[in-house]
Amino acid sequence: MRKYIIAGNWKMNLNLEQGYGLVTEISGMMQDEIHSNVELVVIPPFIHLHGVQTLLKDSPVKTGAQNCHHKTGGAYTGEISPTMLADMKIDYVIIGHSERRQYFGETNALLAEKINAALDAGLTPIYCFGETLEEREAGQELNVNFQQVKEGLFHLSEEQFSKMVLAYEPVWAIGTGKTATSEQAQEIHSFIRSKISEKYGNALAEEISILYGGSMKPGNASELLSCKDIDGGLIGGAALESRSFIDIAKAVV
Ligand code: 13P
Repeated sequence: MRKYIIAGNWKMNLNLEQGYGLVTEISGMMQDEIHSNVELVVIPPFIHLHGVQTLLKDSPVKTGAQNCHHKTGGAYTGEISPTMLADMKIDYVIIGHSERRQYFGETNALLAEKINAALDAGLTPIYCFGETLEEREAGQELNVNFQQVKEGLFHLSEEQFSKMVLAYEPVWAIGTGKTATSEQAQEIHSFIRSKISEKYGNALAEEISILYGGSMKPGNASELLSCKDIDGGLIGGAALESRSFIDIAKAVV
């Protein structure tokens, strides 16, 4: 049975006090309310990570980083290496979020290097892919998503690939209030899983969690999360408030 992951990407939001308050509430609320097959992950800005990780030391809630560099160390002012994150016992790292692709020029080739470095460090990468509105309107969504997954990940060995988590985040649905319909999301998830199956075999493809992200909220989570190939959510805005984050996680039954 695939694991469901509900991950909150805080992006560049919340100060330290707000962040501590949020994780304390999440950790307190989750005990009785969440299905045992659901893992909760909080993904704060780098500067809050150590404090959040310390607060969650005895909690089942996991932590993740929003990005990392592709080298283990050296003269890269302003960057954070995956080995530093692993040393701090951070579990996950988002690689290839569309905001990194769009605003920081991250290419599939660079992301492939980041994936290698993150896996080498022992982190679990959450690799994001997704099409823009123009690409969807041009009927290119299958090609574009496959290209991103192939160029970012298909150099990995089976053993490496088995450690991956993927996240489909259609760019047009991020922060816009427009969610992909469950049919649109399921189509992409099942297509990408079929491509993973062609490359790595069906058994491995069936084990990989593929999350959906893009305006997921308590009101639409049940429908999305009940789709056969949607194994959780990567949540932005609705993860900044404990009640809505927990309510999304409760939608997994
Ligand atoms: P929203 O949930 O705010 O649309 O953001 C989704 C996202 O980008 C998560 O990584």
